[in-house]
Amino acid sequence: MAEPLKVGLAGLGTVGSAVIRLLDQGRDKLVARCGRPIEVVALTARSRTKKRDFELKKFRWFDNPVTLARDPSIDVLVEVIGGEGDPAKRAIETALNAGKPVVTANKALLARHGQKLAALAERHGVALNFEAAVAGGIPIVKTLREGLNGAAFTRIYGILNGTCNYILTRMEQDRLAFDDCLKEAQRLGYAEADPTFDVEGHDTAQKLAILASLAFGTKIDPDAVYVEGISSITLADLDAAAELGYRVKLLGVAVKTQAGIEQRVHPTMVPKDSAIAQVMGVTNAVTVDAEGLAPITLVGPGAGGAATASAIVADLADIARGVVTPPFGRPTARMTAIRKAPMQHHEGGYYIRLLARDRPGTAATIARRLAQQKISLESIVQRHAAGSRGAAQPGRSGEAVPVIMITYATSEDAVHKALAAVRRDRVVSGRPQVIRLERA
Ligand code: HSE
Repeated sequence: MAEPLKVGLAGLGTVGSAVIRLLDQGRDKLVARCGRPIEVVALTARSRTKKRDFELKKFRWFDNPVTLARDPSIDVLVEVIGGEGDPAKRAIETALNAGKPVVTANKALLARHGQKLAALAERHGVALNFEAAVAGGIPIVKTLREGLNGAAFTRIYGILNGTCNYILTRMEQDRLAFDDCLKEAQRLGYAEADPTFDVEGHDTAQKLAILASLAFGTKIDPDAVYVEGISSITLADLDAAAELGYRVKLLGVAVKTQAGIEQRVHPTMVPKDSAIAQVMGVTNAVTVDAEGLAPITLVGPGAGGAATASAIVADLADIARGVVTPPFGRPTARMTAIRKAPMQHHEGGYYIRLLARDRPGTAATIARRLAQQKISLESIVQRHAAGSRGAAQPGRSGEAVPVIMITYATSEDAVHKALAAVRRDRVVSGRPQVIRLERA
């Protein structure tokens, strides 16, 4: 039999342990598919003494990932340490400089340094594969990089964070509080070490920056992504969405506009009957729109050890076969600088929830401010204050009642100006809730 591909594994958390398991269980299948076995021969992790569900002594142990990366006993480095800096970065650079291919699940590192690392891999003629970095077990990197080489992409959007989708699903279905759902996602191993990365949208933003680069051939720029998380979403928003025919999802959207590439992450109202609205729990989904091609949607597990390990093993299989693809689908010299479309020019529909003072003239004031910005309403609902339904008299002066509106397409700028004016008019209390709509 041909020589095995010898793997050095850096990181033994949920994902690293799942890679060991999957390579062990899938050994024969991989030999059949790649013509050679893929074997983990050496390991490194923060703790050597931690209890593991495999025998550590079967592998060579390294205290330092950088030493592992350059060791002649390994052919390829798998990096699942995480984090955008060292030691992950130095370990990857060391492996590439030593002419060894690298497989990584590290979206933070790729979003920040992907361009340079791709150039380094290119210089040494080796693979830098990162299927696991975006949408867990969904092969979206390969789809964009190889499967759709003939396509002219116009928009990529999706649910790219399992933790957020899990939280929104549990809140809606089980009427649970945000914090309880987050704790459960952490317990199940979906969340990042610092879960604010998930819930504030940064994890999605890093993944989106990578997808945008693959789709549009632009240099990766995580700072070009507009980011809003889900921590302000309440059950009231989820209920209102349902009533108006929508569902709330945290989406990452990269779209080609006249002003440049718009990259944004925010809670989004999607039509309740759309494919993306059906995606529940930790499941991820990515839809690709391209000229002359009906939309393609990939749906699958987005987080957790098994899903991520599946993507890592697929990347290793390519390396075992000797496949080297440019990391971002084209030589790095052909990746162009991104022309960032400013968010205030974003156009689309909006959901707005206000707490309006229940007194004569309030609705007229709000309507006037919207009209001044040429904002047209698709629907408007005002809730009665508790106990005032059917009363002969209008609501008690100053009492706050929710007013929920869905606008037709307008601009971000217009919505902000209209709401700022409404707040100055003192007809609402608190901050208005604004959620963008997306055609899906
Ligand atoms: N924390 C991430 C998620 C893990 O919830 O999707 C996969 O990147």
